Amino acid sequence: MAYLAPSILSADLIRLKEQIEIVEQCGADFIHVDVMDGHFVPNLTFGPVMVKAVKQISDVPADVHLMISNPEKYIADFATAGASVITVHQETCTHLDRVIEQIKDENCKAGVSVNPATPVALLEDVLTQVDLVLVMSVNPGFGGQRFIRGSLQKIKRLSALRAEKEARFLIEVDGGINAQTAPEVLRAGADILVAGNAIFGQPD
Ligand code: DX5
Ligand code: ZN
Repeated sequence: MAYLAPSILSADLIRLKEQIEIVEQCGADFIHVDVMDGHFVPNLTFGPVMVKAVKQISDVPADVHLMISNPEKYIADFATAGASVITVHQETCTHLDRVIEQIKDENCKAGVSVNPATPVALLEDVLTQVDLVLVMSVNPGFGGQRFIRGSLQKIKRLSALRAEKEARFLIEVDGGINAQTAPEVLRAGADILVAGNAIFGQPD
């Protein structure tokens, strides 16, 4: 079973309500909200106010991707705003185990993400704790970038580790997903596809 998570980073914010309603009608499983702080990544985007607005428009679960330093400071705010899934980057968490437990204590699903240059081996000891692992298939910060093909090996490696450890996390892939790359990441073992430009960048 594959799930789709449209990223509103590429949506037309003037028409956000209409655009979310369209993807909801088309079967979106999550609404992916990219949170960037201008520090961990070279761009600034949304905060908890956006998650709250999305939840007022739609019942589709909000999948909140925190590309921010010190994510532990903001987890409660995003949970209160209505996040269903909160994903933090391994690279931003000195105490990753603690941050994962903090997300779960807020009654949210806990996700952990790795940048293209970060090996999945660094996640091995938390794989039975998390609900989701997000493989970045571009360097985070912007929509519309080209898919990094090395991500396919990471997805396969995660899929093997999941079986080996009898873990239950879902594998999400984010960046450069389109009609060409989607079948490849699904074959490699991905469960959730994030797509921004390939969905909101289309006239239809
Ligand atoms: C990139 C974000 C992605 C982005 C994907 O840093 O995490 O979620 O919206 O955009 P596309 O699908 O256009 O590559
Ligand atoms: Zn994202």
